[in-house]
Amino acid sequence: MSQNEKSSFLKSDLLECVRCLRFYPAHSFLLLSLLTFGAAAEMAGMSMIIPVFDFIQYGGITGTQCSFYSQMVAERLLQFHLQPTLPLILTLTMIFATMQFGILYVQTTLGAKLFFRIRQKIRNQAYDTLIDASPEFHTYQKSGAFVEVIHNQVTQLGEAIRNFILIVTYFIISAAYLVFLAAISWKLTLLLCGVAILKWMTSTIFTWRAHHLAKKILSFSKEHTARLIETLHAIILIKAFSREPYEKKRYREVHGQLEGTKIKLTYNEAAHSFLDHLIIPMTLCVIVWLSLTVFKLEGTLVLIYITALVRVFNLMTLLNQGRVKMSASLPGVHAVVWLRQMAGKPHVVNGTLVKERLEQQIELKQVGFSYGVNGLPVLDDLNLSIRRDEHIAIVGPTGSGKTTLVHLLLRLYDPTNGAIFIDGIDLRQIALESWHNLIGYVSQDTFIFNASIYENIRYGKLTAARDEIEEAIRLSHASEFINKMPDGVETMVGDRGARLSGGQRQRIAIARAFLRNPQILLMDEATSALDSVTESFIEESTRELAKNRTTITIAHRLTTIQSANRIIVLDQGKVVEEGTHESLIARESLYKRYHELQILNQT
Ligand SMILES: Nc1ncnc2c1ncn2[C@@H]1O[C@H](COP(=O)(O)OP(=O)(O)OP(=O)(O)O)[C@@H](O)[C@H]1O
Ligand SMILES: [Mg+2]
Repeated sequence: MSQNEKSSFLKSDLLECVRCLRFYPAHSFLLLSLLTFGAAAEMAGMSMIIPVFDFIQYGGITGTQCSFYSQMVAERLLQFHLQPTLPLILTLTMIFATMQFGILYVQTTLGAKLFFRIRQKIRNQAYDTLIDASPEFHTYQKSGAFVEVIHNQVTQLGEAIRNFILIVTYFIISAAYLVFLAAISWKLTLLLCGVAILKWMTSTIFTWRAHHLAKKILSFSKEHTARLIETLHAIILIKAFSREPYEKKRYREVHGQLEGTKIKLTYNEAAHSFLDHLIIPMTLCVIVWLSLTVFKLEGTLVLIYITALVRVFNLMTLLNQGRVKMSASLPGVHAVVWLRQMAGKPHVVNGTLVKERLEQQIELKQVGFSYGVNGLPVLDDLNLSIRRDEHIAIVGPTGSGKTTLVHLLLRLYDPTNGAIFIDGIDLRQIALESWHNLIGYVSQDTFIFNASIYENIRYGKLTAARDEIEEAIRLSHASEFINKMPDGVETMVGDRGARLSGGQRQRIAIARAFLRNPQILLMDEATSALDSVTESFIEESTRELAKNRTTITIAHRLTTIQSANRIIVLDQGKVVEEGTHESLIARESLYKRYHELQILNQT
């Protein structure tokens, strides 16, 4: 990456931090105002040292031998009819210090609130983005990377904002101190500015290195989280193939890289801190020597100058450390921005027409579809019309596009060519939620949440009453196995339904779809994992259910679809045959061949 690219990359991430502060403009403004007041109070308190020293040395602050600043303070006090006495000066010092620490307290609590609220908002936004992202986006990314970004990198963004606020604070206070120091000796302060620039430049080198290392850490962190998640998902496979040593080795590799880079980052911070501090005693010695010998400042002023100088150096060190830390957080900021920009593109544009019923038919006209920009066509010039309340079955070889067709009907994707019409209205014009409300869907890979059976079924209709759920359980013939469970319908089923058999999971998914009492039922291989007895029961229920609804069943086992009004045979994304079971069997069709092969396999 070139220097220009580096700086524009950093700038855009820095701007993101500022943008985040704009989420809560009033809080941010108040915080910045407090920072300024705090700096002013600190300066005022600090500057009171001068009159105090003059009191110690000369017994007052009005004499011409006193410093210019003390005389000015005395003048101001007299204007307000106040005698410039030592107790008054000490009281003022105390008031300024109390103000400084009071402001610091409010500033810290307000800053923390602002910082946590921003983090919460960003994390919520990132989660929304993730859920709204297209299914395609998810197929191209590792889920571990998302978890890493939402979980850890949003924290990094919070850290970046916190460091940003600190940097601004230290900058304001340092600037105020420099003004104060310049009032004592502008020549010495000019020298000091040179040292400050040198410190800044030295830190910049460490800032780049921290940024570079943090980018590596981010990449390893994503890989590390992905490894963990994949391991948990594949635990049965790992054990069945005795891949524990292999997985442990893979885990150790990525974890080693991650921790190794974190160590390097810590070394970088330590080296920076060492060099940054090294400059301080050297500069102090030079300044003491110069102030006494070259600039011939009087002892009191040298003492005050050095006291303020130590504080300003401290602030500058904190500022530079904040810069290094912040640049280590910026790759995290970048990752969050990336997630919001990449996943945030609307994948399907929601329609506005609310569809409450399917009146006549679903029509696919010259529908073509391919995944991705350069993907091969999965569906090609597909024409199909499905009448209301018709039960159609779709069969075809694996990879022929059956599930893809269902995905288009669900509007997970839009066709690349042609269109789908619902009662003559383009599906793209229909409000997604109203369309989905008409549909009950059982997917090819059923998903079960780590919750009770009851909660899993209720997911189909969140407002369902208990008796509706019980009816759905009855229709899906799930009661026999649920009744045998230790806690019945309240039994917790484990991660992705791990404590259930494949057939049991499928019955829960069917019950979930039945609960919606949908007008359109889409079943993708819904009965493939069931034994033949349960399958025939479910078929009966489906037939019963299909009576007053439009049903589209995808099945490999042809015995399950013989009662369908129409069977569509799909091959390489095209409808190649169409008819009832009897009519397709009666001629030399592809369907007949499949049917004969399946009968042959069963005997
Ligand atoms: N998300 C995706 N990205 C890219 N290609 C995909 C995606 N999903 C499916 N495909 C491809 O699209 C083609 C059709 O897949 P689809 O899942 O529709 O087949 P299917 O008829 O349902 O097969 P099966 O009977 O095995 O379930 C396949 O070649 C598959 O590789
Ligand atoms: Mg499929």
